[in-house]
Amino acid sequence: MIAIASDHAGFELKEAIKKHLDERNTEYKDFGTYSEESVDYPVFAYKAATAVTKGECEKAILCCGTGIGIGMAANKIKGIRAAMCSDEFSAEMTRRHNDANVICFGGRVITAEKAIKLTDIFLDTEFEGGKHLRRVNMITDIENGKNIIE
Ligand code: RB5
Repeated sequence: MIAIASDHAGFELKEAIKKHLDERNTEYKDFGTYSEESVDYPVFAYKAATAVTKGECEKAILCCGTGIGIGMAANKIKGIRAAMCSDEFSAEMTRRHNDANVICFGGRVITAEKAIKLTDIFLDTEFEGGKHLRRVNMITDIENGKNIIE
């Protein structure tokens, strides 16, 4: 199950991605927003990202105007590794090296066609583990207040 959410500025992009998820038979839960009426993006970051940390959803796709605000909000939640992406290479590498569990798109930045390509890469690329797991674990240590340089 994939969580998907947006604010008003990402709404149209979210709807286009949902249509694509339907076409590829990927199950998702839409955490809103449900129209282009102005809303606060942290609310939607919180709803979708906490579904990931609770284990209800494996990954989340978030859209706002730039993909930045909604990603910043998601990254404040323990266990979330949200990557703001607008190119194929970053979408692939953030799965392979960072084990990103959230991808963030800007509805005012990229086309629906591009976001759909990046969505497929994000959903279909595996984490490589190995030395990258050590680094991801260091991110978690920072999140837990550990001094990783001592
Ligand atoms: C909304 O106008 C806009 O600020 C928001 O969608 C997002 O781009 C924030 O980072």
